[in-house]
Amino acid sequence: MTAHPFDLLTVEKLRHNGSLKWTGHPGSLGAWVAEMDFGTAPGVIEAAQDTLVRGLTGYSPTSLVRDMQEATMHWLGQRFGWNVDSDQVRPLNSVMAALDAAIMHFSPSHRPDAPLVLLTPTYMPFVVAASRFGRDTIQVGMLQTESGWTIDWPGLERALDGGGLLVLVNPHNPIGKVYAREELERISLLVESTGSRVFSDEIHAPLVYRGSVHVPYASLGQVAAGHSITAVAATKAFNIPGLKCAQLVLTNDADRFVWSRVSDVPEHAAANVGLAATAAAYGSGAAWLEDVTNYLDESRNLLGDLIAEHLPRVGYLAPQGTYLGWLDVSRLKLEPGPAQFFLTEAQVALTDGSACGRGGAGFVRLNFATPRSVLAGMIHRMGAAVDGCDNRDVTDPEFAR
Ligand SMILES: Cc1ncc(COP(=O)(O)O)c(C=O)c1O
Repeated sequence: MTAHPFDLLTVEKLRHNGSLKWTGHPGSLGAWVAEMDFGTAPGVIEAAQDTLVRGLTGYSPTSLVRDMQEATMHWLGQRFGWNVDSDQVRPLNSVMAALDAAIMHFSPSHRPDAPLVLLTPTYMPFVVAASRFGRDTIQVGMLQTESGWTIDWPGLERALDGGGLLVLVNPHNPIGKVYAREELERISLLVESTGSRVFSDEIHAPLVYRGSVHVPYASLGQVAAGHSITAVAATKAFNIPGLKCAQLVLTNDADRFVWSRVSDVPEHAAANVGLAATAAAYGSGAAWLEDVTNYLDESRNLLGDLIAEHLPRVGYLAPQGTYLGWLDVSRLKLEPGPAQFFLTEAQVALTDGSACGRGGAGFVRLNFATPRSVLAGMIHRMGAAVDGCDNRDVTDPEFAR
């Protein structure tokens, strides 16, 4: 394994930098919230600085919005073969805002109070999103096999019966699954036949590893484009969620008409610095992203090796996309719950799978977008804690602070 500049980052430096991941649980190693420790692409930093230097601290000028729309259009076309018009790309501040918009405005027209249908485990805030709108949620648990995850098709069919708003997270946080075209086509048939709609969250799409290909749901064809809306963003792959810009891609005229009547407030929530950063990320960030993806690709495999060595009773399938590892710790019977156990006994801050909905209990989500030495330190500590050892005796001195 060759050394990489990311390997020079230390825990001390990361704590000093002060990100949420490294300050939210003081004294622990941060592996919970989905941020990377690698900063962002140089062109993104320049673009963000430039908006301030130029004094673009007022409302969003049309040119910034247009540049973002065009950069997104080119990115989607070149990277995924998904051809959209720039005007179909709408600015928002976040993907969560896009989900809110989907719930409020893009539910099945014959059933505006349709339940939110989730394939679980899923991204934590989605589990409680519908209740903010007084709407029901139906959770359809994903099925795990030796080699990956599959949809519970009869369960999904039952959930969509009568019309639902399906939240498709692809690549799927937290399980790391990248859906195959055939699976998406089968979803599309089911959605169309039940008069349902799809909110396709593709925020992690640029972070897919060799062996998998991201297929945008709406790119399947007219039927899928007609019943879905899509959220994309540069924020995960380029590590800029704090800059507040995401994109809603509207692929049919009816939705564009609805949006034109309600979009003022949500579109104005996109930040100038985020619009410029997004345009730069999509326009000139591909080389940086490739470097990060290659680094993470090695890390996802290293994580498997580390788990086999130090946590042999823990299940792990390397993700096909995302920088999130989904660890089955159910055999360890950790009390009071796995994330709390590892926080107090190993000082490693993880996300507890129980927050991810049905099927999540007994798992933890581990963010491996960190230097490999830090990743190794995390797993050493976790292994030592499970073995009932005092982790301060066994970890690298750097982690023993
Ligand atoms: C699948 C998924 N969707 C949405 C979000 C939230 O994105 P935003 O910060 O743009 O609301 C995240 C954040 O990690 C995510 O993983």
